[in-house]
Amino acid sequence: MVVQNFEGNITVSAEEFLPNNELATYIQENVFSRIVKEKQENKEVEIRLWVAGCSTGQEVYSIAILLNEYLEAQPNMEYKIYATDLDKDSIRIASAGIYPKHAFENVLPDIQKKYFDKKDEFYVVNKEIRKRIIFAPHNIAKDPTFQKLDFISCRNVINYFMPQQQQKIIFKFHESLNGNGFLFLGKSETVGDSKKYFSAVNNKWKIYRKLKVDLHPANDHVTDLHTSRDELLQMNADSLKVQSLQMQLNLKESELIKVNEKLKELKRMNFKKMESLRGDLAEPTIFITGLLDLLQKGEIPFKKELAQALHFEMGKLSKAVEVFYNNQR
Ligand SMILES: C[S@@+](CC[C@H](N)C(=O)[O-])C[C@H]1O[C@@H](n2cnc3c(N)ncnc32)[C@H](O)[C@@H]1O
Repeated sequence: MVVQNFEGNITVSAEEFLPNNELATYIQENVFSRIVKEKQENKEVEIRLWVAGCSTGQEVYSIAILLNEYLEAQPNMEYKIYATDLDKDSIRIASAGIYPKHAFENVLPDIQKKYFDKKDEFYVVNKEIRKRIIFAPHNIAKDPTFQKLDFISCRNVINYFMPQQQQKIIFKFHESLNGNGFLFLGKSETVGDSKKYFSAVNNKWKIYRKLKVDLHPANDHVTDLHTSRDELLQMNADSLKVQSLQMQLNLKESELIKVNEKLKELKRMNFKKMESLRGDLAEPTIFITGLLDLLQKGEIPFKKELAQALHFEMGKLSKAVEVFYNNQR
């Protein structure tokens, strides 16, 4: 329930908040409701979602808000959303969650007030929603996917690919979803030739449900894409490891962005007093930015020890800023 009560043929373009139209209502009443019902029957409490190709974040925040609103009447249910995009700049903007006033033209004032904090001329997504979303750069054509998901939204993205590649991506989505998981592609895209992996539950908005498929190697289409079931299982295990390392790196990166923001603010406020802080900050900052640079360029492989080292240096950085803040009081 994100936007004014437009009914009917409104077109939801990319980079807009989802309107409160029939699509939003449909997702709440026919998708989230079924997921929640099945979770409750299985005595599970966490719903897992993935917004693939999330661009600058409007779609993922809309989905989070729709789900959050729906779950208010469903005590004890939790949710986690992975939000990814190939474009790192889009991910940075999305994870900052800061939008100008005009982005809310169609948003219901109550929803805007409830989920966004006004900061100067901008609106910032509040903590209740932020803490549920994990942002990361990710290439849907190449990178390992997330697993055990209940809902994937990949709206206005797969048309970027050739038909054969699209089928591989749809197959990966099938692998990522739980038994009856939902796939949402949006009005203009379909699962194409992958109809044996998904059944359509809403033809207008291209919402699909996962079908059970025998992954025996004799299955011609699957053999075409993945040589054996063992390889597939190994890929899934590897993907979980890589996914966790990527998440750690991403969290460190966003912590670094936050500390640097604080630093900029401090510099603006009190340039001279910053001189004493410089020494404490220089060493970890050089280490962290240098390491992230090497990782980004692929010059060194990412290992757990590096995540630990980053964590340690981040701690030093945070401590130095904290000491400086305390000295100001
Ligand atoms: C038209 S936008 C759609 C944004 C959002 N899903 C929506 O409907 O509002 C397409 C997005 O797909 C992303 N994209 C393109 N190729 C991708 C890939 N291989 N993996 C992940 N994201 C990709 C682009 O960076 C862009 O942000």
